[in-house]
Amino acid sequence: MEDPIAANRELWNAWADAHVGSEFYDTEGFLAGRETIDQVELEGVGDVAGKSLLHLQCHFGQTTLSWARHGASVVGVDFSERGVAIARELTEQLELDARFICCDIYDTLEHLEGERFDVIFTSYGAISWLPDLKRWAEVIAGALKPGGRFFIAEHHPFLWMFDDYTEALVPPFKYPYFDANVLRWEEDGSYAAPDSGIKATSYSWQHTFDEIVNSLVGAGLRITSLREYPYLAFQWFPTMVKGADGFWRMPEGAPDLPLMYSITAEAPE
Ligand SMILES: C[S@@+](CC[C@H](N)C(=O)[O-])C[C@H]1O[C@@H](n2cnc3c(N)ncnc32)[C@H](O)[C@@H]1O
Repeated sequence: MEDPIAANRELWNAWADAHVGSEFYDTEGFLAGRETIDQVELEGVGDVAGKSLLHLQCHFGQTTLSWARHGASVVGVDFSERGVAIARELTEQLELDARFICCDIYDTLEHLEGERFDVIFTSYGAISWLPDLKRWAEVIAGALKPGGRFFIAEHHPFLWMFDDYTEALVPPFKYPYFDANVLRWEEDGSYAAPDSGIKATSYSWQHTFDEIVNSLVGAGLRITSLREYPYLAFQWFPTMVKGADGFWRMPEGAPDLPLMYSITAEAPE
């Protein structure tokens, strides 16, 4: 089998180039001041003014730079050379206090050389690209200052069980919940640039709530909040409806599924 991480990096390089000009990411609007951080993220992370913030899996930096607009001194990490190059260009254009590191998430601590953060943030579509959450949590614990805060908002692991292309009001189960194997997908376009014509193989990993929570606890972090939401920051099923608050919900008559979760955790003092 080809190296899944190398294949994913190649995919994300192509996607970064396609995404920066996409309607989905609306980079022009972002440059003009559009907020890319949603209410769940804002409330979970809290006031970042004057704080140092590390954004894991930052893609091409829109959300990282949004945290800088909120007054944080930010560092974004991503393994995509193209994503990081675009993030650096945007930083220069916007003249914000931001730095970007290009590396595999598991190598973050080596690149930080002892630098520690008040806040570590990651969200939406991040951890399914990572094979090992124990190592991920060790990176988080190693990069937080004593008493520092970690926040994640992600798609609910239960959601991964369903056929996400279904038009049915009650989505049918398609995938197992407890699947520790690497999952191989043939991509044609992306969630943000469906007509880009980019064809590639991607690899991802299913992570249960047990694994997510216990990886953080096992790394020595104290979970201070775990929340589940009946809405999602992005559309998952074609039947979903977008609310005035920007979140996507199941249509009327559909089951009340948990669509998203967030966790806040703290490093020991
Ligand atoms: C869906 S995006 C996250 C998007 C993010 N919510 C945002 O602000 O736009 C997932 C990111 O994870 C990155 N990624 C995937 N595997 C990685 C790895 N092993 N190490 C570092 N970054 C990785 C990809 O390059 C991509 O930018």
